[in-house]
Amino acid sequence: MSRLPQALAFIPSLLSVTAAQSSDDALWPQQSYKSSSIQTPFMNVTKMGQTEPGFLFLSPEDIIRGTGYPAIYSDDGQLVWQGANGNYSALQPQILNGEPVIAYWAGYVGDGFGFGHISILNSSYDEIHRVTIDCKEQNFHTVFEPMTFNSCIDIHESQITDNGNILVTAVNVTQADLSSIGGPKDGWIQDGLVYEIDIATNEILFRWSAHEHINQVPLSDVRAPLHGSGGSGVNSTYPFGYPHLNSIDKYGDNYLVSSRYMCSVFFIAPNGTVIWHLHGRTGGDFTLGLGTSFCYQHDVRFESQSPERVTLSMHNNDNTEFTGHTSLTTGLVLDVELQGSKEVTLVNRMWDAAEPVYAESQGSYQLLGNGHILQDHGATPKIEEYDENGTIVMRARFGYDNTMQTYRTYRYPWVGCPSTKPDVLACPGSKGGKTAVYVSWNGATDVQSWKVYSGSKVSKTALRNGFETTVIVDGISDGDSVVVEAVGGVGDGTRSEPVTAGQGC
Ligand SMILES: *[C@@H]1O[C@H](CO)[C@@H](O)[C@H](O)[C@H]1NC(C)=O
Ligand SMILES: *[C@@H]1O[C@H](CO)[C@@H](O)[C@H](O)[C@H]1NC(C)=O
Ligand SMILES: *[C@@H]1O[C@H](CO)[C@@H](O)[C@H](O)[C@H]1NC(C)=O
Ligand SMILES: *[C@@H]1O[C@H](CO)[C@@H](O)[C@H](O)[C@H]1NC(C)=O
Ligand SMILES: *[C@@H]1O[C@H](CO)[C@@H](O)[C@H](O)[C@H]1NC(C)=O
Ligand SMILES: *[C@@H]1O[C@H](CO)[C@@H](O)[C@H](O)[C@H]1NC(C)=O
Ligand SMILES: *[C@@H]1O[C@H](CO)[C@@H](O)[C@H](O)[C@H]1NC(C)=O
Repeated sequence: MSRLPQALAFIPSLLSVTAAQSSDDALWPQQSYKSSSIQTPFMNVTKMGQTEPGFLFLSPEDIIRGTGYPAIYSDDGQLVWQGANGNYSALQPQILNGEPVIAYWAGYVGDGFGFGHISILNSSYDEIHRVTIDCKEQNFHTVFEPMTFNSCIDIHESQITDNGNILVTAVNVTQADLSSIGGPKDGWIQDGLVYEIDIATNEILFRWSAHEHINQVPLSDVRAPLHGSGGSGVNSTYPFGYPHLNSIDKYGDNYLVSSRYMCSVFFIAPNGTVIWHLHGRTGGDFTLGLGTSFCYQHDVRFESQSPERVTLSMHNNDNTEFTGHTSLTTGLVLDVELQGSKEVTLVNRMWDAAEPVYAESQGSYQLLGNGHILQDHGATPKIEEYDENGTIVMRARFGYDNTMQTYRTYRYPWVGCPSTKPDVLACPGSKGGKTAVYVSWNGATDVQSWKVYSGSKVSKTALRNGFETTVIVDGISDGDSVVVEAVGGVGDGTRSEPVTAGQGC
């Protein structure tokens, strides 16, 4: 992940939604509500076919307004949940000990990396675990002196394993000899670390450093230029972007590691040895077949694995801030023969031909049920879903290019039962003499209808309609006490605090 420089004027496609003329037009429209102070980007969903069930989980970042939050949206573009403002990344709905949870990174953001913790929320949106790596205890060196944070987990990964551990990345500024690539002998790098941590105890179970394996993870394979945004490496404030790790997964006892600036995928044994190295331009240990080249990729996962062959998927950006934006960004699925021919063959490559994307950074690729694919384009605020035949069935935009971004988006089934109460605002006389009662419940997924009480009697029951429902009722006056109650779903019967009609209208 890299931050988008705000001066970047390049608009990669000619969509009407990107035709921002003035800086005022550059503000993407937001949805706002009466019963809640939440504001959220308008999610413009276009469906051309049947999508898979589930909500969209993302961490929209409004670059112009300078805000970001963890969020869930439904397929009709309605907000379902939004967390507090802050710096967020690597948001991922997952299963922990048999329960659905949301994991995300939060903390202090640098240029393409960061220092923070992983929050794990349960389906009530309460933090049930906070995973940290103690910066001082583990002897981290960062570009920020003095350090204003305690935990040194990087922005790029929050992958929960089957046995309740979590895989994360970290960045440690350290010295390295950069003379082999034209840099200083006493240069500096952003060493990339992989950690497996026990979520319950915060114990570090595995640590791997790219720099400590530099013979197998060679500097010469880095594609980021020394004098690009990767950092010149001349001092510890501008460490060179070797190796820029951005996704980690575990298969059996081994770790699958993606390096963006090396255009590489490494498979690492528990003792730290690189078992194999696939380079997206040179092949590395393999021979690249037609159409299998990749670079600056994100979100590399195995779709299947056997001793002879792995099938891996990725979001292949093929662009960065230092390459320009001329390469088409695609979802990419490759077969890699681990033995014999060691050939890499193309299984699938997908992109939206009508509205192609040239994503500068970030993004995700998710294999859904029934062979559907959900693809998110990171710095380009666009989400796509493809059916099992590669036909696009959904496009969703939540911002103009260069105004909004999200590191990843995943689709996932979810039943949210907030530990907070429903929010309500009752405004007598606001609808032709009648009272408008505005109701929302941040995070509730399955409320069917809302019951409005005035005093002790039910004034009306109305079907829920999106994030905020407006119920028009008779017989409520300024000063009356109003309560709403959720009907249906896991929060059935939950009531709001009483509010006074007319107050806050
Ligand atoms: C939403 O997307 C559709 C299809 O691309 C487009 O025609 C429409 O103008 C968009 N609406 C807004 C408000 O951007
Ligand atoms: C977000 O990161 C910036 C540095 O880029 C930092 O100044 C700010 O305090 C961070 N915000 C939070 C809530 O940690
Ligand atoms: C979520 O965690 C909170 C705090 O531990 C707890 O009160 C709540 O019951 C949990 N919610 C669910 C659905 O388990
Ligand atoms: C970071 O680098 C310093 C300097 O090389 C080293 O002493 C320290 O152990 C490293 N920390 C980690 C977490 O790798
Ligand atoms: C580090 O290098 C940069 C780029 O050459 C320079 O602007 C900066 O002043 C240097 N910082 C220190 C502390 O030497
Ligand atoms: C590390 O593990 C690899 C893969 O299992 C093995 O081939 C290698 O011999 C091991 N190296 C050491 C030093 O134990
Ligand atoms: C995908 O292709 C197969 C074979 O042509 C066809 O039977 C199936 O209906 C297609 N699926 C969709 C969703 O169009």
